[in-house]
Amino acid sequence: MKNMYDCYTLNNGVKNPCLGYGTYKAADGKSADIIEMAIEAGYRYFDTASFYGTEEYLAEAIRRSGVPRKEFFITSKAWKTQMGYENVKKAFRQSLEMLETDYLDLYLIHWPLPEEGYEDWKQLDKETWKGLEELYEEGKVRAIGVSNFLPHHIDNLLEDCRVRPAVDQIEFHPGYTQEMTVRYCQEKGILVQAWSPIGRRALLDNEMLQEMAGRYGVSVAQLCIRYAIQRGVVPLPKSSAMERMKQNQDVFGFEIEEEDMYRLGTIPQTGWSGQHPDTGSIRGSER
Ligand code: A2P
Repeated sequence: MKNMYDCYTLNNGVKNPCLGYGTYKAADGKSADIIEMAIEAGYRYFDTASFYGTEEYLAEAIRRSGVPRKEFFITSKAWKTQMGYENVKKAFRQSLEMLETDYLDLYLIHWPLPEEGYEDWKQLDKETWKGLEELYEEGKVRAIGVSNFLPHHIDNLLEDCRVRPAVDQIEFHPGYTQEMTVRYCQEKGILVQAWSPIGRRALLDNEMLQEMAGRYGVSVAQLCIRYAIQRGVVPLPKSSAMERMKQNQDVFGFEIEEEDMYRLGTIPQTGWSGQHPDTGSIRGSER
């Protein structure tokens, strides 16, 4: 990968750029300004979700930019309350409307369980997936996948799917690399994408990472983003400032040595969000 427009090829032949912009909380002020700034900063790959409340602001920012729709790669996701065969098709139509577009590049099931302890998740996931398969076969979405799925959740879909998931988007950063899931996906030809690739304050303040970043002449954020890229994982960093938006793209001019890759992959758990697909949110764990 030479720059953020270079792509991985998904298991259905669709090209997925190697670095994108995460829009979660990018419209907290209820405005398209930050996303518009991200377009100005050069981002064309935007990750959103119905749950984020940023779809309409992404649409507005794209409209204002004048850049043609086809130059963008847009991912959205069906929220926990939008699962089920009919529900997910309705959710998809709503996302298209909010995004003012007639197709998506990628559509994901946001979480495998609608709530902690939900017993019939296997059936619900299969029915939701069937809805996604139909949207895909009708040509309304170029690729379909999942988010926050662990190997046992994906295994369930693989049992009788017609279309294999192309992507699994998970929390991934030094201090929470989910090795089991990454290895499982990579062996099965499922591209892993990273939400929160920079982790949180605990990671930015980590002395070992600061020392290592210093040696490479980059910031801890850049080190984390580069780490994902070298693992074949697609980082989707968020930022609300032009300077950091640009800094986060400037990760192709250095290479992390193997020894340091091992170090980054083996630091004790740091910066975990506290969210786990099977147990829900464990608050107060790190923050
Ligand atoms: P800000 O919006 O002020 O830039 P992640 O995508 O891993 O969840 O991280 C998002 C957080 O990291 C945001 O709080 C963002 O703050 C911060 N951030 C993003 N890029 C950088 C950077 N290059 N250096 C320091 N902090 C960053």
